[in-house]
Amino acid sequence: MKFFLDTADLNEIREAESWGVIAGVTTNPSLYAKIGGKLADFEEHIARICSIVSGPVSAETTAMTRDEIVSDGLRLAKIAPNVVVKIPVMAEGLAATHELAKHGVAVNMTLVFSAPQAILAARAGARYISPFIGRFDDIGEDGVEQFSTILQSVHAYDYGHEVEVIAASVRSSNHVTQSALMGADIATVPFSVLKKCIEHPLTDRGLNKFLEDWKKVEQA
Ligand code: E4P
Repeated sequence: MKFFLDTADLNEIREAESWGVIAGVTTNPSLYAKIGGKLADFEEHIARICSIVSGPVSAETTAMTRDEIVSDGLRLAKIAPNVVVKIPVMAEGLAATHELAKHGVAVNMTLVFSAPQAILAARAGARYISPFIGRFDDIGEDGVEQFSTILQSVHAYDYGHEVEVIAASVRSSNHVTQSALMGADIATVPFSVLKKCIEHPLTDRGLNKFLEDWKKVEQA
């Protein structure tokens, strides 16, 4: 399973990139707003991210009609060769995905909550599909189980092009574990979750023991 970082924060991207663990980034105007960014500057910010990350950088469009989505998508794709256009699953989004795929633009279809939505996205030409885990948990459903159903359904078929399923709305290291166990292609995680994935109480205990043992050796 590959890791993408779900953020707009350049410091987080630089730090995770220095660990050598991230294969790409997913972002959107809301994540950019969280760090004080403005929608008008979003495309310049995507260029900044692409100057750090060479893997796929998913940039979400805020357009709602197919023509606007296609025109946004073509503009976003011109920023850098690794830009992937993130589009919500809806009829206009599918039509735009179909059109963008004809132009060779990679699409990440987002806000996916069911197997039919995911298969339709793949049929329309989406290169990546992002089912959301945490948002199911938010409404009292088992997000991991829903993700498993979607993942298996998508990978049961050949679409004539590569399709990777991204575990999105990942809120914990357990979500990451479950996604890996199910064979998710990618998990896109916030920086806080990525940091949690590095930690384990037994690692901390082992490190403390290691340091204490060395102190004893030095004092002997
Ligand atoms: C990524 O593509 C999604 O925007 C993100 O994972 C959503 O996460 P959330 O449900 O925690 O907002």
